[in-house]
Amino acid sequence: MADIQLRSISKRFGDVEVIPDLDLSMPDGKVTVLLGPSGCGKSTLLRMIAGLETPSGGEIRIDGKLMNEVPPADRGCALVFQNYALYPHKTVRHNLSFPLRMAKVGKAEQEKAVQEIAHKLELTALLDRYPRQLSGGQRQRVAMGRAMIRQPGVFLYDEPLSNLDLELRVRLRLEIARMQRALQATAVYVTHDQTEAMTLADQIVVLRKGRIEQVGAPLELYRAPANLFVAGFIGTPRINLFPVQGMQASGSGGTRLSLGADTHLDVPRTLPAELRTVGFRPEQARLGEAGPGQVQLELQGCETQAVEHLGDRAFCYLRCTLGELVVLSPSAEARLSGTLRLAIAADALRYFDSSEQAIG
Ligand SMILES: Nc1ncnc2c1ncn2[C@@H]1O[C@H](COP(=O)(O)OP(=O)(O)O)[C@@H](O)[C@H]1O
Ligand SMILES: [Mg+2]
Repeated sequence: MADIQLRSISKRFGDVEVIPDLDLSMPDGKVTVLLGPSGCGKSTLLRMIAGLETPSGGEIRIDGKLMNEVPPADRGCALVFQNYALYPHKTVRHNLSFPLRMAKVGKAEQEKAVQEIAHKLELTALLDRYPRQLSGGQRQRVAMGRAMIRQPGVFLYDEPLSNLDLELRVRLRLEIARMQRALQATAVYVTHDQTEAMTLADQIVVLRKGRIEQVGAPLELYRAPANLFVAGFIGTPRINLFPVQGMQASGSGGTRLSLGADTHLDVPRTLPAELRTVGFRPEQARLGEAGPGQVQLELQGCETQAVEHLGDRAFCYLRCTLGELVVLSPSAEARLSGTLRLAIAADALRYFDSSEQAIG
């Protein structure tokens, strides 16, 4: 068990500054997900925690102890990478026990640990097989078991599921979530996949170009994104965003936002002059007339571009005179066209200013 603290961490490769200056706390026993687009510095951060990369500046502490000079093997971290390399000529049992043999742990104790891990990961029946006799998912579990067997204080995952097919990815994602809850070990999990982040994280750290955009619980980020980047990165399908062309006060403390030639949105609140963008998530709007607490948005010239059927409902990808958007509609009416009236919960609207920050 261990918390991880990064203080003023920076990293440059030659002239290239990958992490300018970053502070982050990763709490004990929780899963912290580092989420961001490819190249934003996620793996670099993880590798610095593991000791595989040296920070250019700043401090890394695990369980309060300064780690900067501590070699990787002595940091109490287990690594699970995308390309899990099992020993092809060793059985599952010997792959699992390998770290213990290296640490000169006694035979009986080794076997006990192997049995425990195999039970946890449902590998008991496979202990005498060789890696080539396993499915991709089973191999992944063996690799995770091998990382777990020395009972590390910290698990570090670098996109461990990204090479797998969708079905397996979904299954292992739940498996890792279950395992992490059972182990209650501190984990740092790197991914560019927001669904993975939303499923696994206690805390999500959204990164962009080596900087933290927002830190929070999954639903905090979903409900209250701090800026346009986070709003666009969290949630699927993506949040609908419209530029605000103009605004004027409308009686009783409301504001009329102009979104296009003939399109406006009457919102029941005042907004600062810096307002530039208004947004709402597809699942927060429905077709029909606005009731109490809702606002009406009339879209013209709608054409359906694509439909994603969910069974009882469908996400409908539309183009209208304002641009593109996605709405949730009953499956039967999935191909929408012409003029559409949307009712949107007023408190689900998100507003962003000229520097792309959320307006509270
Ligand atoms: N050893 C290295 N030498 C030079 N540049 C590197 C090295 N490792 C990573 N980078 C650069 O640092 C940036 C962040 O990389 P990385 O941490 O791997 O991103 P991510 O894991 O988020 O995709 C990228 O622009 C990458 O090209
Ligand atoms: Mg990476």
